[in-house]
Amino acid sequence: MIIRNASLQLSAPDLASCPESTRPEFAFIGRSNVGKSSLVNLLTRAHGLAKVSSTPGKTRLINFYTINETWSLVDLPGYGFAKVAREQRAKFSAFVADYLRLRPNLRGTFVLLDSRLSPQKIDLEFLHWMVDGGLPFVLVFTKTDKLGPSAVQANIDAFLERFRAISEDDPVVLRSSSKSGEGRQAILGLIASALAEEKDA
Ligand code: GTP
Ligand code: MG
Repeated sequence: MIIRNASLQLSAPDLASCPESTRPEFAFIGRSNVGKSSLVNLLTRAHGLAKVSSTPGKTRLINFYTINETWSLVDLPGYGFAKVAREQRAKFSAFVADYLRLRPNLRGTFVLLDSRLSPQKIDLEFLHWMVDGGLPFVLVFTKTDKLGPSAVQANIDAFLERFRAISEDDPVVLRSSSKSGEGRQAILGLIASALAEEKDA
């Protein structure tokens, strides 16, 4: 897929403020600092489109980007950001949960996991919730430039081992790096196939 243009449509603080559900949408979620905004910039090749920060919890809103005037890419707030006040944290996770469960034009969600880490409880809990709700997702292991390939593979294998307790189905697994560009074509390819299937239906 060729990205001809990408622009921020709007940033929504709640479900009611989300734009009308006219275009197919693909969402990106994961814990704070996992690299969601960096991945949005890599996919669109528009550096600075999504705000990247080394301070976790930068993205507190649901950001909608319009791509090629035909589909939307959605950068969701990170889950599990401990420094946000408890009350605020609960509110934004309910908002994200509502978005994931109720958004009619949401076609798929990319769940980002840090390839440097051993399996994290918060990611497994989130995925358990997705599986229980029957919500479709793809796993993306980020920041693969930071470790050697065999260490990345060991973390992926360890995660999939734990994932089997949640779901009988093997998930689709991709790797990404906003530094090396790994994963860009694979992610855009999945989105392109989903959009093409929709056209044919
Ligand atoms: P929140 O909005 O806070 O939830 O974070 P986020 O998931 O959007 O992460 P963001 O893209 O802001 O990246 C967090 C930090 O990780 C930044 O310092 C990025 O430069 C760094 N980073 C993100 N992706 C990569 C990657 O693929 N490789 C490397 N080396 N660093 C990355
Ligand atoms: Mg972000």
